[in-house]
Amino acid sequence: MSLKGPRGTQDILPGEVEKWQFVESVLSDVCRRYNYKEVRTPIFEHTELFQRGVGDTTDIVQKEMYTFEDRGGRSLTLRPEGTASVVRSFVQNKVYGLPNQPTKYYYFGPMFRYERPQQGRMRQFVQFGIEALGSDDPAIDAEVIALAMNSYQELGLQSLKLVLNSLGDQESREEHRKALISHFDPHREELCEDCQVRLDQNPMRVLDCKKDKDHPAMSTAPSILEYLNDYSRTYFENVKSYLDKMGIPYTIDPNLVRGLDYYNHTAFEIMSESEGFGAITTLSGGGRYNGLVEEIGGPETSGIGFAMSIERLLMALEAEGVSLPLEEKLDCYIVALGEEAEKEAAGVVYQLRKAGIQVDKDYAGKKVKAQFKSADRLQAKYVLVLGENELANGQINVKRMATGDQETIALADVVEHMKKEFKGEQS
Ligand code: HAM
Repeated sequence: MSLKGPRGTQDILPGEVEKWQFVESVLSDVCRRYNYKEVRTPIFEHTELFQRGVGDTTDIVQKEMYTFEDRGGRSLTLRPEGTASVVRSFVQNKVYGLPNQPTKYYYFGPMFRYERPQQGRMRQFVQFGIEALGSDDPAIDAEVIALAMNSYQELGLQSLKLVLNSLGDQESREEHRKALISHFDPHREELCEDCQVRLDQNPMRVLDCKKDKDHPAMSTAPSILEYLNDYSRTYFENVKSYLDKMGIPYTIDPNLVRGLDYYNHTAFEIMSESEGFGAITTLSGGGRYNGLVEEIGGPETSGIGFAMSIERLLMALEAEGVSLPLEEKLDCYIVALGEEAEKEAAGVVYQLRKAGIQVDKDYAGKKVKAQFKSADRLQAKYVLVLGENELANGQINVKRMATGDQETIALADVVEHMKKEFKGEQS
């Protein structure tokens, strides 16, 4: 029986992995410019963290977590998202006590959700996310959104739509909650089973239901924006005016509620508008989560962040036909003829590699012709030939493939010679 990887997972092989490395380096550089520092947290946490953090009534906690008992009988969960873990780490390490708040973090890493796999929806996927903890300034909401938009634009995406909403503070939400219950209650029986539960537990989530989205009561549902109290309304106005100042266009959608419980005030998603992107158009999502740090045992600290999956980012790049500047060519390939030359070549390869040059050679006992073929396949920029003659004269032949120029140089000079060649190529 041949074993396959679990459903909803993928292998990222050379050819594809270079794209991942490239986007990760661009995203890290964007974070450097915005002064966000990398944090790495464990892949599994106590189950309770997500129950309390992400929320007991969410689909993630109710249906999608990979939860298991370890040998000590503790319930652990493979993280379904990064925010709860980052907040746990912030509290546990007392990072709130350090000077220089807010704390601005970014992270990359695999997340796990037991969802029905389809294009853009995996059971293991990689998120890039940021979290800013310890600021109530609407300017930082705009900064987080700007970083998200900037990241996509930097990579060459153009068909983007930023959708924005405010979920208000607790007081505003309480009023809105009552209004939603009285609005949907007469239609309770017409709603899906999940929504009937949501109506009691978290009526806002009814607005996010895929099954009931065409129910007539949806389009007439009370909008959260009508229930924002003064503080929440002013906060939202300020976030928008910062975005206006930055020249970042957005669309307001009062039905954007997000699928996690911790959100309040600013909520946003970035969608791909590119044709051919697929059924799932959300590239990333985020928002403010004041109160989460306290929920996880820390002092009153506000927070905001967002996350995107690299899988969906790469899908969007493909859909928009963006080609990434990936280096596919090998610097050098050494062709060696005969046993002595083979040995000498291994030494040259080692010296060149130590000097920072990318080099490869044959390890399959191939004939000379096949070695040249390998060099060709690897798109070697230089082919170095060490034959019996060269060896006898203490020389090596260097061929520059782009021009066909070749010269024979002293073996002892090869490292210096190649270093010069590559320096010349860069300037
Ligand atoms: P989320 O909306 O659940 O938010 O996920 C954020 C992003 O992760 C999505 O927009 C999508 O790009 C990606 N994603 C989610 N599920 C999958 C999946 N099954 N397959 C592929 N990609 C997926 C969060 O996770 C929050 N922690 C975001 C956040 C950070 N809010 C504040 N800070």
